[in-house]
Amino acid sequence: MKTGFAKVGEVELECPVQSPDLDPTEHLWDELERRMERLVGVGVGPLAVGAVGLLLLLRMIHRAKRKQVLQDKVVVITGASSGLGKECARVFHAAGARLILCGRDQKRLQEVVEELRVKTDGNTKTYTPCTVTFDLSDTATVAKAAVEILKCHGHVDVLVNNAGISYRGSILDTHVSVQKDVMDTNYFGPVALTQAILPYMVERGAGHIVVISSVQGKIAIPYRSAYAASKHATQAYFDCLRAEVERFGLHVSVISPGYIRTNLSLNAVTGDGSKYGVMDKTTAAGRDPVDVAHAVLKAVTYRQKDVLLVGPLPALAVYLRTLWPAAFFRVMASRAKKEKGIKEQ
Ligand SMILES: NC(=O)c1ccc[n+]([C@@H]2O[C@H](COP(=O)([O-])OP(=O)(O)OC[C@H]3O[C@@H](n4cnc5c(N)ncnc54)[C@H](OP(=O)(O)O)[C@@H]3O)[C@@H](O)[C@H]2O)c1
Repeated sequence: MKTGFAKVGEVELECPVQSPDLDPTEHLWDELERRMERLVGVGVGPLAVGAVGLLLLLRMIHRAKRKQVLQDKVVVITGASSGLGKECARVFHAAGARLILCGRDQKRLQEVVEELRVKTDGNTKTYTPCTVTFDLSDTATVAKAAVEILKCHGHVDVLVNNAGISYRGSILDTHVSVQKDVMDTNYFGPVALTQAILPYMVERGAGHIVVISSVQGKIAIPYRSAYAASKHATQAYFDCLRAEVERFGLHVSVISPGYIRTNLSLNAVTGDGSKYGVMDKTTAAGRDPVDVAHAVLKAVTYRQKDVLLVGPLPALAVYLRTLWPAAFFRVMASRAKKEKGIKEQ
């Protein structure tokens, strides 16, 4: 018997070739079978079976843990009408949580409710969500909204402070009122909502508060002053909160993602308060919001305190800011010069 080379896809294997009119892949499969037998002979087969078994076991443990933490629990999600909030609504609903969805637009929230109403997930008991409509930037109405939220099921187990807006502009061209508006939505709104619900969690000795911050809560990049400042304040407030409420049995998670593929840049405001209205390339190429929503679910399931969801370069920048600030400032100044150059062209 002659031997030759046969190719399946990108894999090229040496195998016996009997005759040109016979299907060469038949011999390829024989060869693969022989190789597998050899691997089983040296113990790789049982190892592979063991690894798959272990993975299945871990998956079962994870599902049981998720069920224990989230089945029937009351979960409030702000900014549930779009982007990450909408995906969080989907994954927490599928995990069996009783949802209270918040936003400014009742019609869009109702569309999410309609989608989730008909969804059932295998063995998990699911519930039709409630909605509460309010504007987070109006802190006076947030306390009233908290009363409405508490009326839905009598208590809150998990509060996901997700709603937010972004900003694009140079500090020189930005009205102080815009700096304040972004701060109201991204910082004072979540603070007011958290403080309105917190006493009820303390009283029950149970509760988990999540806030969706950003990697810009850890590092400040040029032309994002209002946004980065609001997220830095968010990180600081919720770090303090975590330390203060641990003794009551409460948990706090700060989630800091990099770019996510949502409408955040489209909805961003500029220095004069007008809508930016551009889908930035960085946002369009960002993480899938489904993956980020699963990371939020995981943070609640395993009570993770601080989750940074970024690639290696932004992660390096976070460490550089702490360990070698001078280098970080140099990189940011050159980035600012480059971006300004692009805008002036
Ligand atoms: N996308 C990213 O690249 C990225 C990266 C890191 C962190 N994040 C954070 O992720 C969170 C979710 O943003 P997203 O990316 O999903 O953006 P999005 O698609 O624009 O969603 C923002 C949500 O916030 C709500 N919202 C905005 N202003 C509000 C206000 N004044 N009162 C009440 N609700 C308000 C919006 O609801 P209505 O308009 O219906 O009221 C909407 O549901 C934000 O905190 C954002 O900072 C996003």
